[in-house]
Amino acid sequence: MTQVVTTIDEVRALVRTWRAQGDTVGLVPTMGYLHEGHASLITRSVAENARTVVSVFVNPTQFGPNEDLESYPRDLERDVALVEKCGADVVFHPTPEEMYFPDRCTTVHVEGLGKELCGKSRPIHFDGVCLVVSKLLNITTPDRAYFGQKDAQQLLIVRRMVRDLSMGVQVVGCPIVREEDGLAKSSRNTYLSAEERAAAVVLSKSLAAGRAVLEGGERSAAAVCDAVRAVLASEPLAAPEYVEVVSTDTVTPVERVEGEVLCAIAVRIGNTRLIDNFFYNPNE
Ligand code: PAJ
Repeated sequence: MTQVVTTIDEVRALVRTWRAQGDTVGLVPTMGYLHEGHASLITRSVAENARTVVSVFVNPTQFGPNEDLESYPRDLERDVALVEKCGADVVFHPTPEEMYFPDRCTTVHVEGLGKELCGKSRPIHFDGVCLVVSKLLNITTPDRAYFGQKDAQQLLIVRRMVRDLSMGVQVVGCPIVREEDGLAKSSRNTYLSAEERAAAVVLSKSLAAGRAVLEGGERSAAAVCDAVRAVLASEPLAAPEYVEVVSTDTVTPVERVEGEVLCAIAVRIGNTRLIDNFFYNPNE
């Protein structure tokens, strides 16, 4: 049975009991409205740890003033059913008041890595992510924490934070789960109209074109970006926000693809902002 707990004290008490039995603990942080992408993380954690906590918390500190905090989709009942099906032990579903003191004054900022890509249009986003992920790690003290490559910049930033702060948790990156036509699964896909949903396939198609250029031996980042942009331009409903090839170390743009890179895009389809990406290492 999956247990739903809403307070920090309750989670800590459960983890303490598990630890006393020698159980390992996995954490899967989410904002809920769970889909197969989240399920892949939860299933992996259940396979690799004796106990799994799934947090469901729409974190206010990572949303900008004009973003979709209020309208972000929520369905706890459905989420709990999916978590249960995956075999996790606990859903941690705190209120914003449980997580944040009104006079909190501590920030967690990973310098540099959060400025590029999504950081340009979402300047406070990654500080909010780092703050809530730090808190969730402190509350649950897991052996492993699971993050999707879907949010590749988030994954790189969380890895760096955990390393720099000696957090003693293993960050496990998991592959992107996609719809049959290639669209990366996302809670925000529910915002798309039928016409927009059909248009959204252009994201993964454009990245496939970029990857093909790299696999053909091209090493100029501009050539890769041009190939991606050309496909995006073929879809009238798609308005690209960025198309970039960045170093996985610094998240800054590269001119030539020599080490491991992240090719990442953000595209508006109507009012919905979608992201997608792939990693590529020419030496592998
Ligand atoms: P959320 O968007 O709910 O995503 C939770 C986790 O699921 C993230 O690690 C994300 O990368 C992963 N995920 C989402 N869609 C995926 C897909 N199609 N394939 C594989 N993994 C996928 O990311 C967040 O929440 C928040 O920023 C959070 C880390 C919980 C902090 O608030």
